[in-house]
Amino acid sequence: MIELRNISFENINQILNIKSKFSQRKFVEKASHTIAMAYAGISEGYPGFLSAIYSNEVPVGLILIGRASVAEHEPEILRKYEYVYRILGFLIDKNYQNQGIGRRALKMAIENIEKIKEQKYQKPLPIALECHVKNKNALSLYEFFGFNNIGTTDDNNYILARLPIETYDISH
Ligand SMILES: CC(C)(COP(=O)(O)OP(=O)(O)OC[C@H]1O[C@@H](n2cnc3c(N)ncnc32)[C@H](O)[C@@H]1OP(=O)(O)O)[C@@H](O)C(=O)NCCC(=O)NCCS
Repeated sequence: MIELRNISFENINQILNIKSKFSQRKFVEKASHTIAMAYAGISEGYPGFLSAIYSNEVPVGLILIGRASVAEHEPEILRKYEYVYRILGFLIDKNYQNQGIGRRALKMAIENIEKIKEQKYQKPLPIALECHVKNKNALSLYEFFGFNNIGTTDDNNYILARLPIETYDISH
């Protein structure tokens, strides 16, 4: 069973011990970095969610999604929005990868975000992220959830976004 839970004193040490594979280190920050990012987001007043990913009662990963404003240099398709959600950290421990945990956790995290948007903002916002061009596992997972490549950063990351389904005015 996969669950998203809060990070607390009960699980913080296990979460800090979550590690990527050696070959993945160039693609992803350490768990501690993601937790620090979440803290910075809280300090700056950005809404966001940091969750521990549990598989059968064991904390095996973490995911951070935050809402942030869109900068001038970002792809035009994002600049149509004042804010977007961003996946700022997503890691499954090296001993628990390739078991379908990441896919199920990402599905839950996206559903949680899109539910909140409906209630609070009344219109869907894109979910954006950056992913290294060679991080094939992650890229195929994001593609499965409808993330499309909308640009490339200077440091070799694809910019991916899951865009809301456009509603067309049929009177035109
Ligand atoms: C990217 C990442 C989070 C994916 O997590 P994961 O739990 O390994 O992902 P899943 O197991 O759900 O799916 C990955 C692959 O495992 C395989 N898989 C899925 N379910 C499986 C199962 N039950 N049994 C065997 N293999 C399975 C699939 O081949 C899947 O590949 P596909 O998406 O091409 O079909 C993980 O690889 C990771 O932590 N990587 C390092 C950090 C990182 O790169 N984060 C993203 C930064 S943008």
